[in-house]
Amino acid sequence: MTERLEDIAAKMVANGKGLLAADESTGTIKKRFDTINLESTETSRRDYREMLFRTDEAMTKCISGVILYEETLFQKAADGTPFVDIIKAAGSIPGIKVDTGAKPQAFFPGETVTEGLDGLAERLKKYYDTGARFAKWRGVINIGDGLPTWGSIKADSQALARYAALCQQAGIVPIVEPEVLMDGEPGTHSIDRCAEVTEWVLRTVFTDLYDARVNLEGMVLKPNMIIDGKNARKASVAEVAETTVKVLKATVPPSVPGIAFLSGGQSSEEATAHLSAMNSGYDLPWSLTYSYGRALQDSAIKAWGGKPENVAAGQRAFRHRAEMNTLAALGNWKQELEKAA
Ligand code: 13P
Repeated sequence: MTERLEDIAAKMVANGKGLLAADESTGTIKKRFDTINLESTETSRRDYREMLFRTDEAMTKCISGVILYEETLFQKAADGTPFVDIIKAAGSIPGIKVDTGAKPQAFFPGETVTEGLDGLAERLKKYYDTGARFAKWRGVINIGDGLPTWGSIKADSQALARYAALCQQAGIVPIVEPEVLMDGEPGTHSIDRCAEVTEWVLRTVFTDLYDARVNLEGMVLKPNMIIDGKNARKASVAEVAETTVKVLKATVPPSVPGIAFLSGGQSSEEATAHLSAMNSGYDLPWSLTYSYGRALQDSAIKAWGGKPENVAAGQRAFRHRAEMNTLAALGNWKQELEKAA
């Protein structure tokens, strides 16, 4: 029997588990490896990701699914075991980033539109056959002088809706990710401006998902938190939590099973603290969890440093962040737990 989209989506966000975003493109993973002076090759990328996927305690207790880049979906561990099998053996779901990146949008200076729709139906069949049961597509919205524009929001929103419909037709749960950047340029916007833009974007996205006949019970939303720009940071944890919950309640229908945030350039501990605050003291119609890239991986990359003798240290760091974020998704994280580790 084929799995129901609703059941896969529910499993992705249940019981405090969250998603590991390990779908850095070849260009992005190179930037991450540059910070530890490691050359990015197919083998170093394999070794790094094998370290993460073989962190059993984190994978079985915390990570409901892993977002992979295409290379990794078809890649094997050093001993020849397909990564997809390692992820599934941990009870986690393999997923795949299917967009081909944010490209400059014609006639919209300073704005991008995400590409990847042409041929997507055929690619999704191949990904499904390899074991992927969810996908990700990221639209990118920058806040700047006079930006974003309606024409750019609409273009990204319609692409997200067309992608989501194609995924569902292929038996794959779409993660719908419209990211309003915290770390864009100039990054000086206030939390109030972030709230205004994110509300506008999410209203547009849910209208387009509806028009595209997407089943909201079979998707997961991956939004930014409502937070000031990277060069204007000042809002408290309580303010970020309150404003984010307010904007989401105003825009995300309760039929959506779960919301899994991106970390967007927040420090690892901030991303955890914000998530925990949202899960304590608010009455919410959906699960709120994590789909972090940097906030789950930064400390692990650093502890590993590209050296085989540091794999255990890298795994300890990854396990710690995964456990902290799972506590946060249950509203049970406390700062003292960071010190204790
Ligand atoms: P960050 O958590 O590092 O923002 O990455 C999440 C992601 O998948 C962005 O598309």
